[in-house]
Amino acid sequence: MSVNTDRSYKMKLRDVENAFKYRRIPYPKRSVELIALLAISCTFFLFMHTNKLNSRLKEMEVKLQPSEFSALGLTGNHISGHDAGKHDDINTLHGTYQYLKSTGQLHTLTPYKLNNTAKAEMDRIFFTRCAKVGSESLIQFMEYLQHVNDFDVDHTGLKQPAKRQLLPRGQARKARYIYDQPAGTAYIEHTSWIDFNHFNMPKPIYINLVRDPVERVISWYYYVRNSYRNAIFYRKNPTAEIQPAAWFKKNYNDCVRSGDPECQYIPMTVKDVVGNFKRQTLFFCGHHEDCLPFDSPLAVQIAKRRVEEEYAVVGTWEETNITLTVLEHYIPRYFARATTIYPIFAEKLKNRNRNNRKPKVDEDVKAMVRRNFTNEYEFYHFCKQRLYKQYIALKRSQLEQVYLS
Ligand SMILES: *[C@@H]1O[C@H](CO)[C@@H](O)[C@H](O)[C@H]1NC(C)=O
Ligand SMILES: *[C@@H]1O[C@H](CO)[C@@H](O)[C@H](O)[C@H]1NC(C)=O
Ligand SMILES: *[C@@H]1O[C@H](CO)[C@@H](O)[C@H](O)[C@H]1NC(C)=O
Repeated sequence: MSVNTDRSYKMKLRDVENAFKYRRIPYPKRSVELIALLAISCTFFLFMHTNKLNSRLKEMEVKLQPSEFSALGLTGNHISGHDAGKHDDINTLHGTYQYLKSTGQLHTLTPYKLNNTAKAEMDRIFFTRCAKVGSESLIQFMEYLQHVNDFDVDHTGLKQPAKRQLLPRGQARKARYIYDQPAGTAYIEHTSWIDFNHFNMPKPIYINLVRDPVERVISWYYYVRNSYRNAIFYRKNPTAEIQPAAWFKKNYNDCVRSGDPECQYIPMTVKDVVGNFKRQTLFFCGHHEDCLPFDSPLAVQIAKRRVEEEYAVVGTWEETNITLTVLEHYIPRYFARATTIYPIFAEKLKNRNRNNRKPKVDEDVKAMVRRNFTNEYEFYHFCKQRLYKQYIALKRSQLEQVYLS
């Protein structure tokens, strides 16, 4: 309701009131109807306002919780991997298990509480695939598994050029496309989380993978220099300017050490010198502008909340077995028997080698880069702890045996 209509409506209300107060005229039937109508619209107006306020409050709630949101109920300062001691690292399965045990959280852990699949409102998977996390392997495996579990991997999203952000119209179109597919469709794209309910569509099953943030950017750096990728790129874009040989030969260590803009990752920047997908959190945070500043604590908090409340499984190919086990149990509709079938599939795949050139990157260079990814690391560890937690909830008694012996 605009201010103007609001005001004229108030004036009308006052007129009616005055009419009754001062003129003491007998109420004609019409006025009674008018009052009823006004009362109803007033209630409706207030209802709309309350709704709006509620969603504003929800937004603010996210913004007001800087670092108090972690999978294990710790603050970010306690969980970052490089601060934790080597042998007692909390960011391992064993470390997470020990932590849950020592804080008495272990025996209250149940898969039921960690199962977002049950919250999905339609039988579709939406895999908002991060770049450079090894998702190709999972996709190939899903293409194999679809015949076993009777689902369909949709290839439309795999051919989309990656766009960093979509306007609401683009998000709605994508949500609509997924909604329009038959039940049992797995839609996969390098895109960010979309709020289906906001566009009046039912929620899909969200999944994704994460990977060590610095390993991801190194992987991207060599991926863009990969000859196979470039052959395809220049065939598709014959007029594109070909990079000089020196660019192809440039090594990541030198790139970081010399302060080359291509290897500078400046916190809170929105604009990038070159596109490099360095924001892993963006794939979870969504299309809001608050999600864009690089390594921003707010974007990370929003991303964590999405994972906690929306994603059924966020796995990591660094822990293939754990990820497959969690997928198998939490999303059986698509991943039943995954751990049984995977070894057969992996055997077949073994001979198809990947031609990614990935020379060694020095540890001090990695450390230098890592310093600019503090919040991205917090998110990455958060996802891994949650994955371990989901796994521990399934395998508590087996793990108890293993860790006791
Ligand atoms: C999680 O929920 C889904 C859907 O309701 C169900 O099929 C699956 O068995 C549940 N998994 C666990 C581990 O509770
Ligand atoms: C990290 O960020 C700082 C600014 O906060 C910048 O001076 C530095 O060059 C950056 N380092 C890398 C490797 O991106
Ligand atoms: C993963 O599972 C396979 C098959 O069960 C097993 O052979 C392999 O050792 C496991 N890998 C790890 C790292 O646990």
